[in-house]
Amino acid sequence: MSNSIETFSEAETQIEPPEAFRKAARISSREQYERLYRESLDAPDAFWKRELSELTFRSPWTELVEWKLPHAKWFKGATLNITESCLDRHLGTTTRDKVALLWEGESGATRSITYAELTRQVQSCTAALRSLGVQQGDRVAIYMGMVPEVVVAMLACARIGATHTVVFGGFAAESLRDRINDCGAKVVLTQDGAPRRGAPVPLKQTVDEALRSTPSVQHVVVYRHMKDTVQIQMQPGRDLDWAELLAKHAGTGSSAPANSEPAIVDAEHPLFILYTSGSTGKPKGILHTTAGYLAGVHVSTKYVFDLQPNDVYWCTADVGWVTGHSYLVYGPLSNGATCLIYEGAPNYPDWGRFWQIIDRHKVTILYTAPTAIRAFIKAGDEWVEKASLASLRLLGTVGEPINPEVWMWYHEKVGKRRCPIVDTWWQTETGAIMTVTLPGAVPAKPGVTGLPFFGVEPDVVTQDGQTVPPGEGGSFVQRRPWPSMLRTIWGDDERYRQQYFSDIPGYYFSGDGAYRDKDGYFRVVGRIDDVLNVSGHRIGTAEIESVLVAHPSVAEAAAVGRPDDLKGQALVAFVTLKPGFSASPSAAEDLRQQVAKEIGKFARPDEIRFADGLPKTRSGKIMRRLLKDIAAGREIKGDLSTLEDRSILDKLSK
Ligand code: WTA
Repeated sequence: MSNSIETFSEAETQIEPPEAFRKAARISSREQYERLYRESLDAPDAFWKRELSELTFRSPWTELVEWKLPHAKWFKGATLNITESCLDRHLGTTTRDKVALLWEGESGATRSITYAELTRQVQSCTAALRSLGVQQGDRVAIYMGMVPEVVVAMLACARIGATHTVVFGGFAAESLRDRINDCGAKVVLTQDGAPRRGAPVPLKQTVDEALRSTPSVQHVVVYRHMKDTVQIQMQPGRDLDWAELLAKHAGTGSSAPANSEPAIVDAEHPLFILYTSGSTGKPKGILHTTAGYLAGVHVSTKYVFDLQPNDVYWCTADVGWVTGHSYLVYGPLSNGATCLIYEGAPNYPDWGRFWQIIDRHKVTILYTAPTAIRAFIKAGDEWVEKASLASLRLLGTVGEPINPEVWMWYHEKVGKRRCPIVDTWWQTETGAIMTVTLPGAVPAKPGVTGLPFFGVEPDVVTQDGQTVPPGEGGSFVQRRPWPSMLRTIWGDDERYRQQYFSDIPGYYFSGDGAYRDKDGYFRVVGRIDDVLNVSGHRIGTAEIESVLVAHPSVAEAAAVGRPDDLKGQALVAFVTLKPGFSASPSAAEDLRQQVAKEIGKFARPDEIRFADGLPKTRSGKIMRRLLKDIAAGREIKGDLSTLEDRSILDKLSK
């Protein structure tokens, strides 16, 4: 940890839930929230039995949780297939003919797919993947854009009991390759291309590059989404066409395709691996398992978004991130919601796109990220003011701390002061929302995430695990296991232990700093480890540095974040060059390209600063806190006694 957290003043503003919202809400008072919260901690068996009773378990659990720090097993003895809760269970009800996925392409094309139709497609895809040899326990990589087929792909894997790993379409071939190799994926599901601001992102071509050195992959299934504009090469024997393959497994009449039945798996069966950045080394494969994850996302989707039968729910996150997994796919579908999926960029063809989508599809719940809201603010109020937005009743935010001014803009311009805002704090590792102000129950405070969700017990502690008094900053931890927690890091259990359970013994440490106010609300201030949050994307400084030092010109590199009005944090890389190389704008551009090529465009440094040397301790450790001050243009504060060569600072600050 390299940052200290100061003491914060209490947030002044409190926004009460609008009366009309409160009246109809699932949870409509702080007392009701407290009652359920206490039950979730003190009588968890009763809580989870009741809350999960509508879901499909093939056999019940015999023990709620086994906690052998740092390993948890939840719902021991239970068996299930998560797709029965997300699909099959709806078929015997009126939800059968309800729209499950409401899709709008970047081009403006729309599709709507009912629960019955989605089930049928998942069944075909299940049978198709089985015909390729995919079995329970295998891994399947998914590298697709925001099309309904990506949801079909994920659910088909889950139906087979094959563990999916979705790789965000913005990752470059090298990153895709590393992820495929780390988990040993047998099959890759992709699409020819995905439109981004009018131009195709060539997903299949990137898969071809990645697959030059991925020995585990036997087949690639390609969904032709942009047939007319994107040319692809199909490798005979390896590559198959999605539509042709699924057509062979379509089933006849009303009977399901052969081999499409769900595999009934153990509660702890691996559901998915999602790679994310840590403070050291390469991205880590966060493993989530079946029943606990389902429990977490089901209950949180229902109560945090106060889901009602007629809602049109829109989570704008890409399916390649955890928000897309939990709140675009599993949570909403297990609740039988209608989910909007928008394929393209928020500003295509202009900054009015989001607001038009809301009016066109009568979206009632919008869940998005502060970085998007800041971009809308910058684009000017005229775009949002042109729209009616009368259908909206609830707004949500996730991914980074939201500035109070941005919160107020969202509240006034988008929510028209009528819609509560839920500021949801959670992580890839937590699987589901951990802190929030339940929308009808308690007032919200701009910039403050809120109270613990059911079943979780967060705390703010000192380095040795002592709870700090309200108003004082500390490390944001979890005191007890929760159902949707990660189970391990794929293939590296020691790293799991080290990363999450060694800083503050006995507790799960998130990497974030926080403080708690007198009402018990948590304000999360951001990462206090070496992970950056750039436009809501998690980027490990160690990953950036290793790409930079791999460049022939670079001797040393240190990446840090600096505050940025639009992106939250911008990425600044300090670089020293090897003898014979000189600093220039084109050398800087080269290095930025190197990062784009190895990781993805979204991770390119915003600024490369060449230096003669980096500030180091006498033992040779780079002093990042000084670099952060320099990058931010702040006065350099704190203890400099361990700095080896002070003259370096003067040069760097210029
Ligand atoms: C940050 C995204 C403040 C935090 C779901 C966390 C937030 C990291 C919030 C996880 C929030 C997420 N307020 N900070 N409401 N939500 N964060 O794994 O630093 O992509 O550790 O999961 O985002 O990012 P991840």
